Amino acid sequence: MTGTALPFPPLPMRQLVGPTEESFFDNPTGEPALPDIDARYFEHVFDFGCGCGRVARRMIQQRVPPRTYLGIDIHRGMVEWCQRHLTSHAPSFRFEHFDAYNVGFNPQGSRSPQRFPATDGAYTLVNAWSVFTHILEPDVAHYLQEVRRVMTGDAMFLSTWFLTEKVYFPMMQEFQNALYINTNDPTNAVIFDRDWVRRSFAAAGLRLTAITPPRVRGFAWILIASSRPDASEVDFPLDEAPFGVKRPPLTERPPTEIR
Ligand SMILES: C[S@@+](CC[C@H](N)C(=O)[O-])C[C@H]1O[C@@H](n2cnc3c(N)ncnc32)[C@H](O)[C@@H]1O
Repeated sequence: MTGTALPFPPLPMRQLVGPTEESFFDNPTGEPALPDIDARYFEHVFDFGCGCGRVARRMIQQRVPPRTYLGIDIHRGMVEWCQRHLTSHAPSFRFEHFDAYNVGFNPQGSRSPQRFPATDGAYTLVNAWSVFTHILEPDVAHYLQEVRRVMTGDAMFLSTWFLTEKVYFPMMQEFQNALYINTNDPTNAVIFDRDWVRRSFAAAGLRLTAITPPRVRGFAWILIASSRPDASEVDFPLDEAPFGVKRPPLTERPPTEIR
């Protein structure tokens, strides 16, 4: 760590990833930065869709920070901010641009889903907070396989998802398992059939060990999965949260212009 204070990402970048309050990016008590995961898993962290370093910043502040951390994101400006302002404080925290296409965040990126820039079996914890909520159905199986590929044989995977039950949508074909809310940018929010998500985890070799329902009904569920084939699986609890409004940021203004 250098002597200067750890900076917060600029407000326009915080606005791209969700809640903007500095407290959301801060970890003054030094606790493990992600909920419900044993501290021993925080040794080698892969952060898929790291944004402007919200989780990375909180992990740098942990009493016991990860020994290695790699964050990847499709938004070049946010990755460059993290490289310049977080790696300079914590050299074991690395950030790489991930060149997958997104209409707002990476319009020049590759249209096919990309391989993670990470070696097999290197990470004890994979984080994808608020990322599979923005991945299209055809890409999910590939990215879950990539998640499993980079995990050790006893590693945890934390991710958040918008979930529903397909039984409420009789018009959906057998091969359709996701709902989209924005025709300009279908990645704005993707809502998946929860049983399809469970089957997709299983197909990738991931077992769901903890499921936290949303705080606002219909919003993001936290799914924790293990790479251990003998891990006990859990069922989906009911979503009994109060109704409310939680709108994801729009990408109508080209966010790549924000540096
Ligand atoms: C709502 S933000 C969350 C950022 C960060 N995980 C956090 O918790 O603050 C979603 C992030 O996922 C990134 N993202 C979306 N699709 C991606 C993809 N296919 N590969 C990598 N990152 C992606 C976006 O660029 C954005 O930074």
